[in-house]
Amino acid sequence: MTLSFHLNGERVDIADIPPATTLLDWLRTSRGLTGTKEGCNEGDCGACTVMVTGEDGPKALNACILFLPQLQGKAVTTVEGLKGPGGALHPVQQAMVDHHGSQCGFCTPGFVMSMATAQITGAADHDLTLAGNLCRCTGYAPIIRAAEAAMEAPVPAHLPKTFTMPVGAADTAFQPESADALADWYAAHPNATLIAGATDLGLHVTKALRDLGEVAFLNRCADLKGLTVTEDEIRIGAMTTFSELLEGIAPYHPGFATMLRRFASVQVRNAATVGGNIANGSPIGDSPPAFIALGARLHLRKGDARRSLPLEDFFLDYGKQDRAPGEFVEAISVPRQPDRLACYKLSKRPDQDISAVCGCFNVTVEGGVVSAARIAFGGMAGVPKRASHVEAALLDQPWEEGILARAAGAWAQDFTPLSDMRASAGYRLSAAANLLERYLRADLGQATDLEGVRA
Ligand SMILES: Cc1cc2nc3c(=O)[nH]c(=O)nc-3n(C[C@H](O)[C@H](O)[C@H](O)COP(=O)(O)OP(=O)(O)OC[C@H]3O[C@@H](n4cnc5c(N)ncnc54)[C@H](O)[C@@H]3O)c2cc1C
Ligand code: FES
Ligand code: FES
Repeated sequence: MTLSFHLNGERVDIADIPPATTLLDWLRTSRGLTGTKEGCNEGDCGACTVMVTGEDGPKALNACILFLPQLQGKAVTTVEGLKGPGGALHPVQQAMVDHHGSQCGFCTPGFVMSMATAQITGAADHDLTLAGNLCRCTGYAPIIRAAEAAMEAPVPAHLPKTFTMPVGAADTAFQPESADALADWYAAHPNATLIAGATDLGLHVTKALRDLGEVAFLNRCADLKGLTVTEDEIRIGAMTTFSELLEGIAPYHPGFATMLRRFASVQVRNAATVGGNIANGSPIGDSPPAFIALGARLHLRKGDARRSLPLEDFFLDYGKQDRAPGEFVEAISVPRQPDRLACYKLSKRPDQDISAVCGCFNVTVEGGVVSAARIAFGGMAGVPKRASHVEAALLDQPWEEGILARAAGAWAQDFTPLSDMRASAGYRLSAAANLLERYLRADLGQATDLEGVRA
């Protein structure tokens, strides 16, 4: 295995390095680039943020949960590479000085890397671009002021806006370049670990100290990436990141995109994939309830054999999915439909937090009466699950306030949630019922959006 990428403008070729080496460890221990900080080592604090540029432009990523092979053919910029010719400060660094955006300074390299990436890409909503960076002492107001001021400055010429690099034939056994190559290899190595964005698997290494064993990286499988929209469906490749999904789904289902703005942080969304969010089988993954409410089908492949199934049928039980050894997620497809979707994510913090409850509603009303209903929840059972009894209770009923009482008894038939650190069972059950009320009232034109109330 040979890896080739650019680091702060210079080509790097690495041979014979364990594949689960994180960029953060390598930068700090092998390259002496200690500007990139280790805070949480699990993707939460953003102290390790770097800029990674490919043909689709620069992205902020967390180096602590990024394995070196994911950088194949890309350009990495660390805080040491930000300075301009003659050592001039980058505009975001100068703005942090001018606006007093740093006290102890531990978080600062991560902030400036997020800000520099936002400056190049023109992403001006800093509540979003900095949601994945944690500062414990300065306070966010001066940092946001610095980010805003830096947007006015010209983008420095020395930082790559896009980057491509011929890296020769990759080692197919390790980093296949197509779904076909992956299918052949995985069928022959069914016990291997597939690595997509590594936002879950990274923690297996950094926190659980697990050996991932034999691995294959999916990041070079171009045909597993992106959305394809036809008259009948929206097909989303397994390697589509949540940043790409957010942008791609917004014109069709804006409620899905709104919820995805609260999926982790920019850095995590730039790495985390749709396939990983489904294949990990988590009962609190945010995309499965939305996809189930949209009637999505999951497309699985083993060798040349393909099958598809309704997404809800994939989740058999807690920790158990309908996926055979050697079989992988190729895509998920959503039927084209009029948009009726609303997604509500309840978590203790608005940003960078895992759902306590995530409820997704897709109710069709014709002539004032419910003609179809698909409702799905995360955080209410050991798997992402449809509220089938509630759906049945809504069907053929007038779409007005009285419907809530008719559905009230069905919630406990659908769900027996657990109490855990995120929420009690009682909270979860009553919150789920309240979310239906919120969906109904919003649909009837009443103000329900807390952000709207605050504004
Ligand atoms: C700080 C932080 C915040 C987070 N916040 C959220 C959040 O708000 N909401 C949320 O839902 N999740 C959240 N997550 C969890 C994680 O980001 C998601 O579950 C993500 O979608 C996982 O995708 P990945 O590509 O990173 O998967 P990976 O870590 O690469 O893989 C996860 C699992 O899926 C398997 N896999 C991946 N792709 C395939 C495939 N195509 N076929 C078969 N198996 C496959 C892997 O083998 C592995 O078992 C968060 C994680 C972090 C670190
Ligand atoms: S060290 Fe905290 S996100 Fe990487
Ligand atoms: S300046 Fe101290 S953590 Fe941000």
